[in-house]
Amino acid sequence: MTKLLTIQGGKPLQGSVRVRGAKNLVPKAMVASLLGSSPSQLRNVPEIKDVEIVTNLLTIHGVKVEADVDTGDLTLDPSQMRTAEHSEIDAHAGDSRIPILFCGPLMHRNGEAFIPDLGGCRIGDRPIDYHLEVLRTFGAVVDKQATGIHITAPKGLKGAKLELPYPSVGTTEQVLLTAVLADGITELKNAAVEPEIHDLIAILQQMGAIITVNTDRTIRIEGVERLGGYKHRAIPDRIESASWASAALVTRGDIYVQGAAQRDLSAFLNTYRKIGGEFEVDDGGIRFWHAGGQLEPLVLETDVHPGFMTDWQQPMVVALTQAHGVSIVHETVYENRFGFTEPLRRMGASIQLHRECLGSNPCRFGQRNFLHSAVISGPAELQGADIDVPDLRGGFSHLIAALAASGTSRVTGIEIIDRGYEHFMDKLHALGADVELTER
Ligand code: EPU
Repeated sequence: MTKLLTIQGGKPLQGSVRVRGAKNLVPKAMVASLLGSSPSQLRNVPEIKDVEIVTNLLTIHGVKVEADVDTGDLTLDPSQMRTAEHSEIDAHAGDSRIPILFCGPLMHRNGEAFIPDLGGCRIGDRPIDYHLEVLRTFGAVVDKQATGIHITAPKGLKGAKLELPYPSVGTTEQVLLTAVLADGITELKNAAVEPEIHDLIAILQQMGAIITVNTDRTIRIEGVERLGGYKHRAIPDRIESASWASAALVTRGDIYVQGAAQRDLSAFLNTYRKIGGEFEVDDGGIRFWHAGGQLEPLVLETDVHPGFMTDWQQPMVVALTQAHGVSIVHETVYENRFGFTEPLRRMGASIQLHRECLGSNPCRFGQRNFLHSAVISGPAELQGADIDVPDLRGGFSHLIAALAASGTSRVTGIEIIDRGYEHFMDKLHALGADVELTER
């Protein structure tokens, strides 16, 4: 059975949606529970596919996971941990990249880890070389097999001096989850400092870890012998918040995003204001709306935190198709994150992709064969189209383009959206969208 989403566009989205814990924090917080000798409690957990995948992976490793879907409370009890069969891990890993983060905790607790072939969104090569390199420096032995990677630590894991070639979010998390119980001190230079990393550090500190973050992107971790559980409320999802904000702008609507937090959206809000979007912050969330005038074009570069996130780029590109004039977007985090613009062009958008760096941020992709800069001319009158969703963020941006377009769009592959957008169909209905889901 494939799902088909039919969208009649042209209606402003209006109303309120609730955003819960960040997709890019919650699964990692769940993995951290493996390090504790007592149960952990995580609050504000969304019902998304990635949480389901990590729940299954933890369960096959003997962790008892109890969820209250209404409150979003999770209890994770690792007291009966065991080593899972490779075939079980393979069967439950799905399309997620989270299994790679099980390495440190599983080596500490079970002496070994197995990582199946990794999935994740198709937005570039997404290698794991940094991960394997830092694990080796901790003393892990990496054995690449046909079905995946087997990792052991015959002499234990020892604190290390590390420097990342690029401030990778996942590798920084890998180092944190491994170093907290390693023997001695770890120093990580050029670390990622995204809000989700700070939230993970807060969790690990509650468990008993000693972690210092310096202003120069250096993180120092003093290994301890034992960690306990944690009780924590996950930070809100700043990518979902920005996605709904962009949907308000593109459809000329007005959306209150309950749970959105200004602090972690700072770079996005500056851009939102410059393009002509309005927002108003209160204690419970942020209201986003189209001010009624014309949208302004702008020059935008994605970057690691505190820059403009790569995951905000796709919905913002749709908004820029409605701006009066020429906008330029330089993607510096992933080499291949403009594939989603092809359906937008079919819908009537004017977007040209370039191999050159159209921006001033230092970028690893210049002079190479990657189409990683976009020139967008607007405003474009978008027409409905048939779309097959390519990846999570690209897919959501297709939905908002279809919601703004005149005519009918037929969208397949929407299961991908469930990976990171909780109950998005219910939310679309609540915002007055003319959408219908059928199975065929
Ligand atoms: N990289 C390597 N080698 C590695 C690891 C990363 O070359 O071993 C490169 C990547 O190819 C990429 C860059 O380093 O060009 C940054 O990758 P990073 O490791 O920071 O990304 P990630 O941890 O795999 C997380 C989020 C992504 C988000 C990025 C950047 C999760 C599960 N995923 O990915 O989120 O785009 O950080 O902020 O946390 C999404 O939510 O849709 C999503 C893709």
